[in-house]
Amino acid sequence: MDSARYFTLADFEPAARAVLPHAVFEYIASAAGEGGTARENDEAFGRIRLRPRVLRETGAPDTRLNLFHAELAHPILLAPTAYQRLSHPEGEIATVRGAGATGAVFTLSTSGTASIEEVMAEAVAPVWFLLYWQSDRGFNRELVERVTAAGAGALCVTVDTPVLGDRSRQDRAGFALPSDLVTPHLHDRNCGLREGRDPGIRAPLTWRDIEWLRSFCKLPLILKGILDPADAALAAEAGADGIIVSNHGGRNLDTLPATIDALPAVVERLAGRIPVLLDGGVRRGTDVFKALALGARAVLIGRPYVHALAVGGAAGVAHCVRLLRRELELTMALCGRATLTEVDRSALW
Ligand code: FNR
Repeated sequence: MDSARYFTLADFEPAARAVLPHAVFEYIASAAGEGGTARENDEAFGRIRLRPRVLRETGAPDTRLNLFHAELAHPILLAPTAYQRLSHPEGEIATVRGAGATGAVFTLSTSGTASIEEVMAEAVAPVWFLLYWQSDRGFNRELVERVTAAGAGALCVTVDTPVLGDRSRQDRAGFALPSDLVTPHLHDRNCGLREGRDPGIRAPLTWRDIEWLRSFCKLPLILKGILDPADAALAAEAGADGIIVSNHGGRNLDTLPATIDALPAVVERLAGRIPVLLDGGVRRGTDVFKALALGARAVLIGRPYVHALAVGGAAGVAHCVRLLRRELELTMALCGRATLTEVDRSALW
């Protein structure tokens, strides 16, 4: 991959379109309904204005943070995305290598095409595991114990997908999972997870199940897919260690608010009880900065790194994270903020 061709995260998208089969590109791009939620995620960041301060002794911006007892070099994480071997022959193995080269946390999906053990063997930065809840409780428990033994740094649980959203864009392109695609955590289980044309009714997951997971899970437990402050409060009460404000990249339900617009009320309600992360539409360093200013501890990116994986494997993923981190550092320097703790609401207009 010629890194010099990619100046921003947006540059990976047309390049990915050129190398991927049309149906796979459409699967990655796909959003629910008319795509309004996904568009809103992007556009809402553009409506927020920054408030720079000048003539401060800031020095080189310091992007380090401590999150769930891990020291991280920066607050840019890789969101769980399924079936990465559709985008690149090395799939999740390339992603974890690219993440490691840049000190980024990688979240491996239950629907990944490499196992947690294979991924951990390549990991030099923390790897989190994303649990897609299955109807078989014993299976969930075994999987959680397996990823804990393998060395995962946290367990995320997707809570916003009781059914798969309506993704007409990928349907129109005729997207279907190849029959030879292997998802090692799921083996041959009939798990309702196939993101093809199948409506995929999932196993019901409730707060009681979260409490059950909490009762034996030794890892930090993070609920992914919360928008309502009331659910954020319930998450803290159920023993979650953190939440991700997310609308699944707009892939599940149309006409939701942008995650950046949902964030402030969630942060206010939790009042610092547990860390809040955010994903959805994060494309520029200014987006990362705005999310942190509104109270997120860190952000996750989805589609941009999958595009980068498609065009450049591990090197592509690493370049994608480096570009975003550099833009964050530039934004901090130009706003007169030396450390992430100085990135607060006073940095917004
Ligand atoms: C996803 N996402 C997702 N989420 C999840 O909890 N489990 C999963 O397996 C997947 N799989 C997946 C595949 C693909 C191709 C995409 C694009 C997304 C959602 C993902 O974790 C994240 O919430 C969004 O991608 C964030 O939005 P952006 O950055 O794509 O705008």
